[in-house]
Amino acid sequence: VYQTYENASQQRLIVVANRLPVSAVRERDGSWSLQVSAGGLVSALMGVSNFKTCWIGWPGVYVPEGPERDALTAALAKECYVPVYLDPKIVDLHYNGFCNSVLWQLFHYVPLNMDSKLSETRTLQFQWAAHQSANQRFADVVLRNYSAGDVVWVQDYHLMLLPAMLKNRAPKMKVGWFLHTPFPSSEIYRTLPVREEVLRAVLKADLIGFHTYDYARHFVSACTRILGLEGTPEGVEDNGSLTRVAAFPIGIDPERFARALEKPNVKAHIAQLLNRYAGRKVMLGVDRLDMIKGIPQKLLAFEKFLEEHPQWRDKVLLVQIAVPSRTDVPEYQRLRSMVHEIVGRINGHYGTLTHVPIHHLDRQLAFHELCALYAVTDIALVTSLRDGMNLVSYEYVACQSDNAGVLVLSEFAGAAQSLGAGAILVNPWNITDMAAAIEDALTMSDQERRERHRQNYMHVTIHTSQTWADTFISELNDTHVEAELRTKH
Ligand code: G6P
Repeated sequence: VYQTYENASQQRLIVVANRLPVSAVRERDGSWSLQVSAGGLVSALMGVSNFKTCWIGWPGVYVPEGPERDALTAALAKECYVPVYLDPKIVDLHYNGFCNSVLWQLFHYVPLNMDSKLSETRTLQFQWAAHQSANQRFADVVLRNYSAGDVVWVQDYHLMLLPAMLKNRAPKMKVGWFLHTPFPSSEIYRTLPVREEVLRAVLKADLIGFHTYDYARHFVSACTRILGLEGTPEGVEDNGSLTRVAAFPIGIDPERFARALEKPNVKAHIAQLLNRYAGRKVMLGVDRLDMIKGIPQKLLAFEKFLEEHPQWRDKVLLVQIAVPSRTDVPEYQRLRSMVHEIVGRINGHYGTLTHVPIHHLDRQLAFHELCALYAVTDIALVTSLRDGMNLVSYEYVACQSDNAGVLVLSEFAGAAQSLGAGAILVNPWNITDMAAAIEDALTMSDQERRERHRQNYMHVTIHTSQTWADTFISELNDTHVEAELRTKH
């Protein structure tokens, strides 16, 4: 797998993430096709090219051992992707259960399930056991693929136990861990029954990174309050040994979008859409169908706007792309029904024979379709209730050089700290204010729109995913030098 690299002097980066950047999908004829996975983590890491990178992760499907699994492994190996196969029971308890019904919720300020009965407590124990064995499976694959000198970059909340599992077996391995979600206030985090085990395991990393300074601060408080360790400006100290903790705001690869906008198929798509939307203003929402994205709140704000501004009713359209996500988790199934109900109600009430106010799609778009939509729409609505960063807002800005469209952005997205100056910031829980923000965005002067866009565009083009990765990895390499200096003194 690794001999395909041309520049052997480059340090090898092993990215370990729950999901590979492509997910395997079974075609009708039984063959496998590889589809780009959804989400900010993949979108950012795809923009990182300065390293010779190998990915280790779950391919999204279960394939029993045998020739079929070998064929998929070989297809992935061509891209330097190493699959971690997990059996369906583990996937259910670890991925659907512990990761997405417990950690994901808690990290986005959704309290643990209030109806927990005795049997559910037992479920949590099973989920935790499965979570530990899934992390162990990942550790085994990393150790099998690791060579001295490689740097290992563990991603996200699914793999918080991995730093300890790796360091216990390979103490000299350089291990970084980065969280792509918020890290909540320690007052929320401390409700997690296994709060200590998780913190102790992740603290074994050499460098711990978050999107914002606030998330890093919450993490350090959790370590001081729950584990009684010492928080310093550099990180967390335990008996003289320091784990460095810092903020590394992620970005995108804006060039990838700029290049796409020059391609004939994207240009053709843009022309088609402009024709279709002529005479109307178009607002855009692009989200994984996840409760943290605030899709119902966005729809309710649009409904309120239509109710209060009859003159706009046939002149404005919301295109909402809701990418299916974690479809086996009950919360996500309930959200889908709720969103469909609200969309149906608004379209039924405000639609006419010639105009439908919400164009809602339950699917992921091809990259060229997405770029075209980003480019032609007048407003983007990002209304997350909590969001680690939210790179849709970055992608929208990157595609808006010609139009200078308005970004309406939740103050609860990490991106509010970087794009706050150019965006209209909203509290997604305040439907009245969000409806007012829609009006402001629709009626903003050309000059103000351009000035706001200029500020955002500057930020997006300077703070790229490449800079993010370079900064993290160079700091990770330095942590070892620092640690050696400390032991010498
Ligand atoms: C978020 C998480 C990622 C995850 C992505 C898609 O961005 O931070 O780790 O990969 O959502 O979710 P999924 O469960 O489909 O991998």
